Amino acid sequence: MDRFVIEGPTRLEGDLAVGGAKNAVLPLMAGALLSRGTSVIQNVPDLHDVRFFMTILEGLGARCSLVGGELRLDTREAEGREAAYDLVRKMRASIYVLGPLLAFQGEARVSLPGGCAWGPRPVNLHLEGLQALGAEIALDRGYIHARVPRGGLLGGRFRFEPVSVGATCNVLMAAVLARGETILENCAVEPEVTQLAVGLRDAGARIEGVGTPTLRVQGPVTIAPLRQTVIADRIEAGTFMAGVALAGGRVRLTGVDTVHVAPITAVLREMGCGITEAADELVIASEGRPVATEITTRPYPGFPTDMQAQVMAACAVADGTSFICEGIYADRFTHVAELQRLGAEIRVDGARATIFGVERLQGAPVMASDLRASAALVLAGVAAEGTTTVNRVYHIDRGYERIEDKLAGLGARIRRVSAR
Ligand code: UD1
Repeated sequence: MDRFVIEGPTRLEGDLAVGGAKNAVLPLMAGALLSRGTSVIQNVPDLHDVRFFMTILEGLGARCSLVGGELRLDTREAEGREAAYDLVRKMRASIYVLGPLLAFQGEARVSLPGGCAWGPRPVNLHLEGLQALGAEIALDRGYIHARVPRGGLLGGRFRFEPVSVGATCNVLMAAVLARGETILENCAVEPEVTQLAVGLRDAGARIEGVGTPTLRVQGPVTIAPLRQTVIADRIEAGTFMAGVALAGGRVRLTGVDTVHVAPITAVLREMGCGITEAADELVIASEGRPVATEITTRPYPGFPTDMQAQVMAACAVADGTSFICEGIYADRFTHVAELQRLGAEIRVDGARATIFGVERLQGAPVMASDLRASAALVLAGVAAEGTTTVNRVYHIDRGYERIEDKLAGLGARIRRVSAR
């Protein structure tokens, strides 16, 4: 297994182009299953999660290629209906195939994902939302077995409680092929969900309220193969912004959507970073220690749970005591014990973390536990004094394209050591 060896501290200085958003690509890939033909998605980052989703689609009979940021998904022979445990347990986003398979093939068998490092991650809303469209769902030896009723899916009304990115995408994909009107309430409005709705609409779906919590869908329609250019990854942008807050320096991010990163920008400004924005770029600068802050993660446009770990790393060296409340996944604190190994002073009580800022972190060997936690450890390593080794970087390769090259381009002393 690869690891990163980082020599710190260094500042981050320079320009960086932000890539396409992983969390927008995956639902679009599932959306390709709603038609027969070749969907073409541009600005696709070459990430392990994307390659893995290609394997899932190939298992269903699709032909997939990703070359130079262009992803082609040919579903003419995609007649499979099953996503097996071995695939789903490796990537929870595999559950996105449930809605499209059910609606397009009339039947789907998808493994129940199970929990993850930060506790149970239920899929009840995915199932209840599909049931509201008439789907017959049975749980059978670890699998979700879903079938359309006689006559096909029927429009229905469903309210997501709580707001769920995954369930909104899944149920929306099924609703576009359901007969009659579907009203979905309290939908997630994350930019990645909106991109899926736009992608479906461009392909023939009749969806009103795109970008708002209430989606009205009229069906059924014939969906054409998708054609989309993936939005910029707000979490990748935010990760480098948190890196500047932590390590100091000045970085110009190009190809960002400043509206999508606004919830992150607001927090980092409070932490003392100077941030200037232009059309699709942003300059962030920071000198000295960041200022302590108080954050609660919430659904968009709130502060994203996917940025909690990286900002906590910045809080670790802040001047003062910070408070972070995890409003989405109460247990999402696997990075805390590793940050403590680097000298951070953090106390966790339920979903709340109190971070007592220290002057400087000290390098140490640490273990990456999940995607964003790993990113936090890498940033902490850049700012820490001495050598930090981040083990198990496959987690980070899932969602960041060549993060070590990007950081090195900004002056970090980081190298990948491949396991023999
Ligand atoms: C969540 C994040 C998303 C992030 C992803 C990976 C939110 C709203 N979602 O998306 O931004 O990229 O994690 O880190 O911030 N829930 C149920 N029943 C369900 C589905 C979800 O109760 O069927 C609950 C979850 O336990 C959680 C909340 O709803 O408390 C949000 O979950 P959801 O948005 O579905 O999770 P992801 O799609 O994984």
